[in-house]
Amino acid sequence: MPEAGTHVGSGKVRELYALDDERLLLVASDRISTFDVVLPTEIPDKGRVLTGLSAFWFDRSQDLVENHMLRLRSDGRSMECRRLEMVQLECVVRGYLSGSGWKDYARTGEVCGHSLPKGLRESEKLPEPLFTPSTKAATGHDENITRVQAGEIVSLPMLELLEGVSIELYSFAAEYAAERGIIIADTKFEFGVDPAGENLYLGDEALTPDSSRFWPADLFEPGRPQPSFDKQFVRDYCESLGWDKTDPGPELPDDVVAGTRARYVEAFERLTEQSFERYLDDPESVLR
Ligand SMILES: Nc1ncnc2c1ncn2[C@@H]1O[C@H](COP(=O)(O)OP(=O)(O)OP(=O)(O)O)[C@@H](O)[C@H]1O
Ligand SMILES: [Mg+2]
Repeated sequence: MPEAGTHVGSGKVRELYALDDERLLLVASDRISTFDVVLPTEIPDKGRVLTGLSAFWFDRSQDLVENHMLRLRSDGRSMECRRLEMVQLECVVRGYLSGSGWKDYARTGEVCGHSLPKGLRESEKLPEPLFTPSTKAATGHDENITRVQAGEIVSLPMLELLEGVSIELYSFAAEYAAERGIIIADTKFEFGVDPAGENLYLGDEALTPDSSRFWPADLFEPGRPQPSFDKQFVRDYCESLGWDKTDPGPELPDDVVAGTRARYVEAFERLTEQSFERYLDDPESVLR
C-alpha cells in the first residue's frame, strides 16, 4: 500500500496530497474541464496521459530548468513532487495565432501588448514565440495581462527569468514535437520556488494536451481553426449544444468520450514514440 498523505487540495483535474513538508503527491484524475467548468463525464485514462507526458517532458527538459518531479508511481497517474510556492502567473507561450491571442489580434492588432505585423491570418505562425502571461485566477477564468501588470505580480527580474525560461522550454518542445508531426501552437507553464526562495522549478503539468494546443502538422492550414489533439473536440461538441458555459456542463455521449480519449492517446504515442499500452504496463518507460 503506497503512502497517500493528507489531502490538501483539489484542482479541476488534480488531487493534491501532502506526503511531508517537502513533498506533494499530485494525482491526475480523468476529469475534463472545458471553459473552466468540470464536465460530469470522465475520459478514461486521460489522467494517465497527462502524467505520462508531463514526466516525459520533465525528464527531457531538466537541462533547461529544474522541475518538481521526484518519482512517478506505478499507477501512471500519480507523481511525487517537490512542494513549491507557486509563482502567481500562468506562463503562456504562443508560437501561432489562436484562441484568445487570435481574438486580441483581430480586435487590436496586438497580443498582450506585443504589436505584430498586419494581415496575419487565424492559426498563422508568429514571427517568433511570444510570452503572454496571465493571472492565476482563484476562481473563474484566467485573464490575459500586459507586461506592466505582470511586473506588479512578480518582480521585474523574476518576470524576465520566467520569460526566458518559458520561451526556451517552448522552443525546445516545439522543435521536438514538429519532428514527430505535431505543432505545439501554444502552451502554459507553471513555475514555483522552493521554500527558501532560492531556486526556480517547473511545476504542475507540462506540455500536455490540457495545457497546450497540439495540432496535427500534416493538416495545418492557416486561415481557419485547426483540428487538434486537445480539448477542442469536446469544446466543439459542447458549443454545438448551445450550452451557456456555466456549471453544470453537459454529459458527453460515448462517441465523444471515445473520440477524445483517442486524441489524447494519439498525442501521447506520437510524442513519446511508444505505445500507451506499454506506458500502462510500466510508467517509467517514458523516462530515459
Ligand atoms: N509542486 C507544486 N507545489 C505546489 N503546488 C503545485 C505544484 N505543482 C502544481 N501545483 C498546483 O496544483 C494544482 C494542480 O491542480 P489542477 O491542475 O487540477 O488545478 P487547476 O484546475 O488547473 O487550477 P486550480 O488549482 O486553480 O483549480 C494547481 O493549483 C497548481 O498550481
Ligand atoms: Mg491545472
